[in-house]
Amino acid sequence: MKLTFDLADDFANQLDDKDVLSDFRKQFYFSGDNTIYLDGNSLGRLPLKTKTLLAKAIEKQWGNDLIESWNKNWYTKSEELGNKIAKIIGASIGEVIVSDSTSVNLYKLAKAALKLQTGKTRIVSDVFNFPTDLYILQGIIQECGNNYELILARQKDEISIDLDDLKSKITEKTALVVLSLVAFKSAFLYNAEEITNWAHQKGALVLWDLSHAAGAVPIELNKTNADLAVGCTYKYLNGGPGSPAFLYVRKDLHEKLTSPIQGWFGEENPFEFGLNYRPASGIRKFLTGTPPVLNLLAVETGLDLLIEAGIKNLYEKSKRQSEYFIFLTMKILSKHGFEIGSPLDPLQRGSHISLKHPEAYRICQSLIHPKNGTVKIIPDFREPDNIRFGFTPLYTTFEEIRQTTARLKIIMETREYESFGSERNSVT
Ligand SMILES: Cc1ncc(COP(=O)(O)O)c(C=O)c1O
Repeated sequence: MKLTFDLADDFANQLDDKDVLSDFRKQFYFSGDNTIYLDGNSLGRLPLKTKTLLAKAIEKQWGNDLIESWNKNWYTKSEELGNKIAKIIGASIGEVIVSDSTSVNLYKLAKAALKLQTGKTRIVSDVFNFPTDLYILQGIIQECGNNYELILARQKDEISIDLDDLKSKITEKTALVVLSLVAFKSAFLYNAEEITNWAHQKGALVLWDLSHAAGAVPIELNKTNADLAVGCTYKYLNGGPGSPAFLYVRKDLHEKLTSPIQGWFGEENPFEFGLNYRPASGIRKFLTGTPPVLNLLAVETGLDLLIEAGIKNLYEKSKRQSEYFIFLTMKILSKHGFEIGSPLDPLQRGSHISLKHPEAYRICQSLIHPKNGTVKIIPDFREPDNIRFGFTPLYTTFEEIRQTTARLKIIMETREYESFGSERNSVT
Protein backbone atom coordinates (compact mmCIF):
# COMPACT_ATOMS: atom_id res chain seq x y z
CA MET A 1 0.00 0.00 0.00
CA LYS A 2 1.35 3.42 -0.99
CA LEU A 3 1.89 5.59 2.08
CA THR A 4 0.88 9.23 1.95
CA PHE A 5 2.49 11.96 4.01
CA ASP A 6 1.98 15.61 4.81
CA LEU A 7 4.49 18.44 5.24
CA ALA A 8 2.65 19.92 8.24
CA ASP A 9 4.75 19.90 11.43
CA ASP A 10 2.09 18.18 13.52
CA PHE A 11 1.81 15.34 11.00
CA ALA A 12 4.84 13.70 12.65
CA ASN A 13 3.08 13.76 16.03
CA GLN A 14 0.01 12.18 14.45
CA LEU A 15 2.19 9.35 13.13
CA ASP A 16 3.74 8.93 16.59
CA ASP A 17 0.30 8.83 18.20
CA LYS A 18 -0.70 5.95 15.90
CA ASP A 19 2.58 4.06 16.45
CA VAL A 20 1.88 0.68 18.10
CA LEU A 21 5.54 0.41 19.15
CA SER A 22 5.81 3.84 20.79
CA ASP A 23 6.00 2.46 24.35
CA PHE A 24 9.22 0.58 23.59
CA ARG A 25 11.13 3.88 23.61
CA LYS A 26 10.61 3.99 27.38
CA GLN A 27 12.67 0.82 27.68
CA PHE A 28 15.84 2.64 26.61
CA TYR A 29 18.22 4.97 28.39
CA PHE A 30 18.05 8.66 27.42
CA SER A 31 20.53 11.11 28.93
CA GLY A 32 17.95 13.93 29.05
CA ASP A 33 19.68 16.25 26.58
CA ASN A 34 17.16 15.61 23.76
CA THR A 35 19.82 14.31 21.39
CA ILE A 36 18.28 12.75 18.30
CA TYR A 37 20.11 9.50 17.75
CA LEU A 38 19.96 8.12 14.22
CA ASP A 39 22.95 5.80 14.44
CA GLY A 40 21.36 2.68 15.89
CA ASN A 41 22.52 0.98 12.70
CA SER A 42 26.07 1.33 14.04
CA LEU A 43 25.59 1.08 17.80
CA GLY A 44 22.15 0.53 19.27
CA ARG A 45 20.96 2.50 22.31
CA LEU A 46 21.31 1.12 25.83
CA PRO A 47 18.22 -0.82 27.03
CA LEU A 48 17.41 0.21 30.62
CA LYS A 49 17.18 -3.39 31.76
CA THR A 50 20.72 -4.01 30.51
CA LYS A 51 21.97 -1.47 33.05
CA THR A 52 20.38 -3.35 35.95
CA LEU A 53 21.19 -6.76 34.51
CA LEU A 54 24.88 -5.88 34.24
CA ALA A 55 24.98 -4.26 37.68
CA LYS A 56 23.50 -7.43 39.17
CA ALA A 57 25.77 -9.71 37.13
CA ILE A 58 28.83 -7.83 38.34
CA GLU A 59 27.73 -7.80 41.97
CA LYS A 60 26.14 -11.23 42.32
CA GLN A 61 27.56 -13.44 39.59
CA TRP A 62 31.11 -12.12 39.46
CA GLY A 63 31.31 -10.55 42.95
CA ASN A 64 29.58 -13.17 45.10
CA ASP A 65 29.32 -16.40 43.14
CA LEU A 66 32.64 -16.09 41.29
CA ILE A 67 33.61 -19.25 39.40
CA GLU A 68 30.35 -20.99 40.36
CA SER A 69 28.58 -18.64 37.94
CA TRP A 70 29.93 -20.64 35.02
CA ASN A 71 27.62 -23.53 35.89
CA LYS A 72 24.79 -21.36 37.18
CA ASN A 73 24.63 -18.67 34.52
CA TRP A 74 27.35 -18.50 31.92
CA TYR A 75 28.31 -21.79 30.28
CA THR A 76 25.17 -22.25 28.18
CA LYS A 77 24.49 -18.53 27.60
CA SER A 78 25.96 -18.51 24.06
CA GLU A 79 23.44 -21.14 22.96
CA GLU A 80 20.52 -19.61 24.86
CA LEU A 81 21.12 -16.25 23.18
CA GLY A 82 21.61 -18.01 19.85
CA ASN A 83 18.16 -19.56 20.23
CA LYS A 84 16.68 -16.10 20.83
CA ILE A 85 18.45 -14.70 17.76
CA ALA A 86 17.10 -17.70 15.80
CA LYS A 87 13.60 -16.34 16.38
CA ILE A 88 14.63 -13.00 14.90
CA ILE A 89 16.32 -14.42 11.79
CA GLY A 90 13.98 -17.30 10.98
CA ALA A 91 16.27 -20.13 12.08
CA SER A 92 15.58 -23.17 14.29
CA ILE A 93 16.61 -23.97 17.84
CA GLY A 94 20.22 -25.19 17.87
CA GLU A 95 21.24 -23.51 14.60
CA VAL A 96 22.57 -20.20 15.98
CA ILE A 97 25.22 -19.46 18.59
CA VAL A 98 26.78 -16.25 19.95
CA SER A 99 30.54 -16.17 19.70
CA ASP A 100 33.59 -14.07 18.80
CA SER A 101 33.29 -11.12 16.39
CA THR A 102 31.56 -11.09 13.01
CA SER A 103 34.97 -11.10 11.32
CA VAL A 104 36.14 -14.20 13.21
CA ASN A 105 32.84 -16.00 12.63
CA LEU A 106 33.05 -15.20 8.94
CA TYR A 107 36.55 -16.66 8.87
CA LYS A 108 35.42 -19.86 10.61
CA LEU A 109 32.40 -20.46 8.40
CA ALA A 110 34.02 -19.42 5.11
CA LYS A 111 37.01 -21.67 5.69
CA ALA A 112 34.82 -24.56 6.80
CA ALA A 113 32.67 -24.17 3.69
CA LEU A 114 35.66 -24.09 1.34
CA LYS A 115 37.01 -27.29 2.88
CA LEU A 116 33.71 -29.00 2.12
CA GLN A 117 33.52 -27.72 -1.46
CA THR A 118 36.44 -29.69 -2.87
CA GLY A 119 37.37 -29.04 -6.48
CA LYS A 120 35.73 -25.61 -6.67
CA THR A 121 38.00 -22.60 -6.83
CA ARG A 122 35.86 -19.47 -6.92
CA ILE A 123 34.52 -17.23 -4.16
CA VAL A 124 31.99 -14.59 -5.19
CA SER A 125 31.15 -11.42 -3.30
CA ASP A 126 30.22 -7.88 -4.36
CA VAL A 127 31.72 -4.40 -4.37
CA PHE A 128 29.26 -3.22 -1.69
CA ASN A 129 30.33 -5.77 0.88
CA PHE A 130 31.73 -4.55 4.19
CA PRO A 131 35.55 -4.43 3.88
CA THR A 132 36.22 -6.85 6.76
CA ASP A 133 34.39 -9.59 4.85
CA LEU A 134 36.61 -9.07 1.81
CA TYR A 135 39.78 -8.80 3.91
CA ILE A 136 38.97 -12.09 5.66
CA LEU A 137 38.36 -13.82 2.32
CA GLN A 138 41.60 -12.41 0.88
CA GLY A 139 43.46 -13.74 3.94
CA ILE A 140 41.90 -17.20 3.58
CA ILE A 141 42.91 -17.30 -0.08
CA GLN A 142 46.52 -16.51 0.84
CA GLU A 143 46.46 -19.19 3.55
CA CYS A 144 45.17 -21.68 0.99
CA GLY A 145 48.14 -21.13 -1.31
CA ASN A 146 46.25 -18.73 -3.61
CA ASN A 147 44.26 -21.61 -5.01
CA TYR A 148 41.01 -19.60 -4.98
CA GLU A 149 39.96 -16.51 -6.89
CA LEU A 150 37.78 -13.84 -5.28
CA ILE A 151 35.42 -12.31 -7.83
CA LEU A 152 33.31 -9.26 -7.00
CA ALA A 153 29.97 -8.54 -8.64
CA ARG A 154 29.83 -4.98 -9.89
CA GLN A 155 27.39 -2.27 -8.97
CA LYS A 156 24.54 -1.22 -11.25
CA ASP A 157 24.83 2.31 -9.89
CA GLU A 158 25.86 3.86 -6.58
CA ILE A 159 22.89 2.27 -4.85
CA SER A 160 22.31 -1.25 -6.20
CA ILE A 161 24.27 -4.30 -7.24
CA ASP A 162 23.97 -5.51 -10.84
CA LEU A 163 22.13 -8.79 -10.19
CA ASP A 164 22.72 -10.14 -13.70
CA ASP A 165 26.43 -9.61 -13.23
CA LEU A 166 26.33 -11.32 -9.83
CA LYS A 167 24.46 -14.31 -11.23
CA SER A 168 26.78 -14.63 -14.21
CA LYS A 169 29.74 -14.77 -11.80
CA ILE A 170 28.22 -17.59 -9.75
CA THR A 171 29.17 -20.57 -11.91
CA GLU A 172 29.77 -24.30 -11.36
CA LYS A 173 33.32 -23.32 -10.28
CA THR A 174 31.94 -21.33 -7.34
CA ALA A 175 32.51 -22.81 -3.89
CA LEU A 176 31.07 -19.98 -1.84
CA VAL A 177 29.08 -16.78 -2.22
CA VAL A 178 29.60 -14.22 0.59
CA LEU A 179 27.26 -11.23 0.66
CA SER A 180 25.88 -8.69 3.10
CA LEU A 181 22.11 -9.05 3.02
CA VAL A 182 21.86 -5.28 3.57
CA ALA A 183 24.70 -3.17 2.17
CA PHE A 184 26.31 -0.96 4.81
CA LYS A 185 26.40 2.21 2.69
CA SER A 186 23.32 2.30 0.52
CA ALA A 187 21.13 -0.16 2.50
CA PHE A 188 20.57 -2.17 -0.73
CA LEU A 189 18.75 -5.37 0.29
CA TYR A 190 19.14 -8.65 -1.57
CA ASN A 191 16.31 -11.07 -2.22
CA ALA A 192 17.86 -13.88 -0.17
CA GLU A 193 15.70 -16.61 -1.67
CA GLU A 194 16.53 -15.67 -5.26
CA ILE A 195 20.28 -15.58 -4.65
CA THR A 196 20.30 -18.75 -2.54
CA ASN A 197 18.34 -20.70 -5.16
CA TRP A 198 20.60 -19.49 -7.93
CA ALA A 199 23.76 -20.37 -5.98
CA HIS A 200 22.42 -23.80 -5.03
CA GLN A 201 21.65 -24.58 -8.68
CA LYS A 202 25.34 -24.01 -9.39
CA GLY A 203 26.42 -26.08 -6.39
CA ALA A 204 27.65 -23.10 -4.36
CA LEU A 205 27.06 -22.42 -0.67
CA VAL A 206 25.97 -18.97 0.48
CA LEU A 207 27.26 -17.17 3.58
CA TRP A 208 25.16 -14.14 4.51
CA ASP A 209 26.46 -11.27 6.63
CA LEU A 210 23.34 -10.13 8.49
CA SER A 211 24.97 -7.32 10.48
CA HIS A 212 22.82 -4.56 8.95
CA ALA A 213 19.77 -6.78 8.57
CA ALA A 214 19.19 -8.64 11.86
CA GLY A 215 16.48 -6.86 13.83
CA ALA A 216 15.86 -4.48 10.91
CA VAL A 217 14.23 -6.52 8.15
CA PRO A 218 12.41 -9.87 8.12
CA ILE A 219 14.89 -12.71 7.60
CA GLU A 220 13.74 -16.27 6.90
CA LEU A 221 16.91 -18.36 6.97
CA ASN A 222 15.06 -21.68 7.15
CA LYS A 223 12.40 -20.83 4.59
CA THR A 224 15.02 -19.67 2.10
CA ASN A 225 17.14 -22.77 2.79
CA ALA A 226 20.09 -20.57 3.80
CA ASP A 227 23.37 -22.39 4.41
CA LEU A 228 25.41 -20.10 6.62
CA ALA A 229 25.19 -16.66 8.20
CA VAL A 230 27.02 -14.34 10.58
CA GLY A 231 26.14 -10.98 12.08
CA CYS A 232 26.84 -8.58 14.89
CA THR A 233 24.70 -7.85 17.94
CA TYR A 234 25.68 -4.24 18.62
CA LYS A 235 23.56 -2.59 15.89
CA TYR A 236 19.79 -3.22 15.71
CA LEU A 237 20.03 -5.96 18.37
CA ASN A 238 21.24 -3.37 20.95
CA GLY A 239 23.82 -5.65 22.57
CA GLY A 240 26.28 -2.86 23.44
CA PRO A 241 29.73 -1.79 22.26
CA GLY A 242 31.89 -4.76 21.30
CA SER A 243 29.16 -7.28 22.08
CA PRO A 244 29.92 -10.73 20.66
CA ALA A 245 28.56 -11.71 17.25
CA PHE A 246 26.43 -14.66 16.15
CA LEU A 247 26.73 -17.39 13.58
CA TYR A 248 24.16 -19.66 11.95
CA VAL A 249 24.76 -23.04 10.33
CA ARG A 250 21.85 -24.98 8.79
CA LYS A 251 21.31 -28.16 10.77
CA ASP A 252 22.19 -30.67 8.05
CA LEU A 253 25.58 -28.96 7.61
CA HIS A 254 26.60 -29.36 11.27
CA GLU A 255 28.11 -32.80 10.75
CA LYS A 256 29.75 -31.89 7.45
CA LEU A 257 31.53 -28.72 8.52
CA THR A 258 34.42 -28.37 10.93
CA SER A 259 35.71 -25.19 12.53
CA PRO A 260 39.20 -24.17 11.40
CA ILE A 261 39.84 -22.75 14.88
CA GLN A 262 39.71 -25.78 17.15
CA GLY A 263 39.37 -24.04 20.48
CA TRP A 264 38.42 -25.83 23.68
CA PHE A 265 34.95 -24.27 23.88
CA GLY A 266 34.09 -26.09 20.65
CA GLU A 267 35.35 -29.42 22.01
CA GLU A 268 33.02 -32.26 22.89
CA ASN A 269 33.84 -32.10 26.59
CA PRO A 270 36.24 -29.25 27.41
CA PHE A 271 36.44 -30.20 31.08
CA GLU A 272 37.84 -33.62 30.34
CA PHE A 273 40.93 -31.71 29.21
CA GLY A 274 41.74 -34.39 26.64
CA LEU A 275 44.91 -33.94 24.62
CA ASN A 276 43.24 -34.47 21.26
CA TYR A 277 40.44 -32.33 19.89
CA ARG A 278 37.05 -33.90 19.21
CA PRO A 279 34.50 -31.45 17.82
CA ALA A 280 31.32 -30.98 19.82
CA SER A 281 28.23 -32.16 18.04
CA GLY A 282 25.81 -29.46 16.96
CA ILE A 283 26.34 -25.72 16.82
CA ARG A 284 28.72 -25.61 19.83
CA LYS A 285 31.50 -26.95 17.62
CA PHE A 286 31.76 -23.42 16.17
CA LEU A 287 32.65 -21.87 19.52
CA THR A 288 36.30 -20.98 20.08
CA GLY A 289 37.35 -19.92 23.57
CA THR A 290 36.09 -18.13 26.68
CA PRO A 291 33.57 -15.44 25.68
CA PRO A 292 33.61 -11.87 27.06
CA VAL A 293 30.99 -12.82 29.65
CA LEU A 294 29.73 -9.36 30.62
CA ASN A 295 29.30 -8.33 26.99
CA LEU A 296 27.63 -11.66 26.31
CA LEU A 297 25.11 -11.22 29.14
CA ALA A 298 24.36 -7.69 27.91
CA VAL A 299 23.00 -9.06 24.62
CA GLU A 300 19.92 -10.64 26.18
CA THR A 301 17.68 -7.64 26.93
CA GLY A 302 17.87 -6.22 23.43
CA LEU A 303 16.82 -9.59 21.99
CA ASP A 304 13.88 -9.87 24.39
CA LEU A 305 12.67 -6.41 23.37
CA LEU A 306 12.84 -7.22 19.65
CA ILE A 307 11.04 -10.53 20.12
CA GLU A 308 8.33 -8.82 22.16
CA ALA A 309 7.88 -6.04 19.58
CA GLY A 310 7.79 -8.53 16.69
CA ILE A 311 9.83 -8.24 13.51
CA LYS A 312 6.71 -7.68 11.40
CA ASN A 313 5.73 -4.60 13.45
CA LEU A 314 9.30 -3.32 13.46
CA TYR A 315 9.64 -3.69 9.72
CA GLU A 316 6.33 -1.95 9.04
CA LYS A 317 7.42 1.01 11.18
CA SER A 318 10.89 1.05 9.65
CA LYS A 319 9.39 1.27 6.16
CA ARG A 320 6.99 4.03 7.23
CA GLN A 321 9.79 6.02 8.86
CA SER A 322 12.11 5.64 5.88
CA GLU A 323 9.36 6.65 3.47
CA TYR A 324 8.53 9.71 5.60
CA PHE A 325 12.21 10.71 5.61
CA ILE A 326 12.43 10.29 1.82
CA PHE A 327 9.24 12.33 1.38
CA LEU A 328 10.60 15.20 3.50
CA THR A 329 14.01 15.05 1.84
CA MET A 330 12.55 15.26 -1.63
CA LYS A 331 10.22 18.10 -0.67
CA ILE A 332 12.59 20.31 1.29
CA LEU A 333 16.17 19.15 0.78
CA SER A 334 16.54 18.29 -2.92
CA LYS A 335 17.05 21.91 -3.82
CA HIS A 336 20.05 22.01 -1.49
CA GLY A 337 21.88 19.37 -3.47
CA PHE A 338 20.97 16.24 -1.50
CA GLU A 339 20.34 12.99 -3.35
CA ILE A 340 18.88 9.81 -1.94
CA GLY A 341 21.69 7.25 -1.85
CA SER A 342 19.45 4.28 -0.99
CA PRO A 343 16.94 2.26 -3.02
CA LEU A 344 13.59 4.01 -3.35
CA ASP A 345 11.76 0.68 -3.42
CA PRO A 346 11.23 -0.26 0.26
CA LEU A 347 11.44 -3.95 -0.64
CA GLN A 348 15.04 -3.43 -1.74
CA ARG A 349 16.12 -1.47 1.31
CA GLY A 350 17.23 -2.07 4.90
CA SER A 351 16.43 0.29 7.78
CA HIS A 352 18.78 3.17 7.05
CA ILE A 353 18.81 5.85 4.37
CA SER A 354 21.96 7.43 2.96
CA LEU A 355 21.83 11.00 1.76
CA LYS A 356 24.53 11.96 -0.68
CA HIS A 357 25.97 15.46 -0.81
CA PRO A 358 29.39 16.83 -1.86
CA GLU A 359 29.62 18.49 1.60
CA ALA A 360 28.33 15.41 3.45
CA TYR A 361 31.15 15.33 6.00
CA ARG A 362 30.83 18.95 7.09
CA ILE A 363 27.03 18.78 7.14
CA CYS A 364 27.27 15.69 9.34
CA GLN A 365 29.60 17.61 11.68
CA SER A 366 27.06 20.47 11.87
CA LEU A 367 24.35 18.04 12.91
CA ILE A 368 26.54 16.49 15.61
CA HIS A 369 28.03 19.78 16.93
CA PRO A 370 25.22 22.35 16.91
CA LYS A 371 25.38 25.84 18.38
CA ASN A 372 24.03 26.17 21.93
CA GLY A 373 20.32 25.59 22.24
CA THR A 374 19.99 23.72 18.95
CA VAL A 375 19.13 20.05 18.94
CA LYS A 376 22.07 17.68 18.51
CA ILE A 377 21.51 15.01 15.87
CA ILE A 378 23.75 11.96 15.46
CA PRO A 379 23.82 10.15 12.13
CA ASP A 380 27.13 8.88 10.71
CA PHE A 381 29.29 9.53 7.69
CA ARG A 382 30.60 7.04 5.17
CA GLU A 383 33.15 7.98 2.53
CA PRO A 384 33.05 9.67 0.17
CA ASP A 385 29.77 11.56 0.42
CA ASN A 386 27.16 9.62 2.41
CA ILE A 387 25.37 10.68 5.59
CA ARG A 388 23.63 7.58 6.94
CA PHE A 389 20.41 7.98 8.92
CA GLY A 390 19.48 4.82 10.80
CA PHE A 391 15.86 4.31 11.78
CA THR A 392 15.53 2.01 14.76
CA PRO A 393 11.79 1.45 15.19
CA LEU A 394 12.13 0.47 18.85
CA TYR A 395 13.06 4.04 19.79
CA THR A 396 13.12 6.40 16.79
CA THR A 397 10.11 8.73 16.57
CA PHE A 398 8.57 10.36 13.51
CA GLU A 399 9.01 13.72 15.21
CA GLU A 400 12.78 13.11 15.38
CA ILE A 401 12.76 12.47 11.64
CA ARG A 402 10.84 15.68 10.98
CA GLN A 403 13.23 17.67 13.18
CA THR A 404 16.23 16.19 11.39
CA THR A 405 15.12 17.30 7.94
CA ALA A 406 14.11 20.72 9.32
CA ARG A 407 17.56 21.09 10.87
CA LEU A 408 19.28 20.06 7.63
CA LYS A 409 17.32 22.75 5.82
CA ILE A 410 18.59 25.39 8.25
CA ILE A 411 22.18 24.12 8.03
CA MET A 412 22.02 24.52 4.26
CA GLU A 413 20.25 27.87 4.23
CA THR A 414 22.68 29.43 6.73
CA ARG A 415 25.69 27.52 5.31
CA GLU A 416 26.48 26.61 8.91
CA TYR A 417 28.53 23.61 7.76
CA GLU A 418 31.16 25.97 6.35
CA SER A 419 32.48 26.61 9.86
CA PHE A 420 33.67 22.98 10.06
CA GLY A 421 36.84 21.50 8.59
CA SER A 422 36.97 18.44 6.34
CA GLU A 423 39.62 16.62 8.34
CA ARG A 424 38.12 13.23 9.32
CA ASN A 425 37.92 11.90 12.89
CA SER A 426 39.29 8.37 13.43
CA VAL A 427 35.74 7.04 13.69
CA THR A 428 33.27 8.75 11.38
C1 LIG B 1 28.24 -5.75 7.44
C2 LIG B 1 29.30 -5.78 8.52
N1 LIG B 1 30.05 -6.88 8.68
C3 LIG B 1 31.01 -6.94 9.62
C4 LIG B 1 31.26 -5.87 10.45
C5 LIG B 1 32.40 -5.93 11.43
O1 LIG B 1 32.12 -6.78 12.45
P1 LIG B 1 33.14 -7.08 13.65
O2 LIG B 1 33.82 -5.80 13.97
O3 LIG B 1 32.21 -7.57 14.74
O4 LIG B 1 34.06 -8.14 13.22
C6 LIG B 1 30.49 -4.72 10.33
C7 LIG B 1 30.74 -3.57 11.23
O5 LIG B 1 30.12 -2.54 11.19
C8 LIG B 1 29.49 -4.66 9.34
O6 LIG B 1 28.76 -3.57 9.17
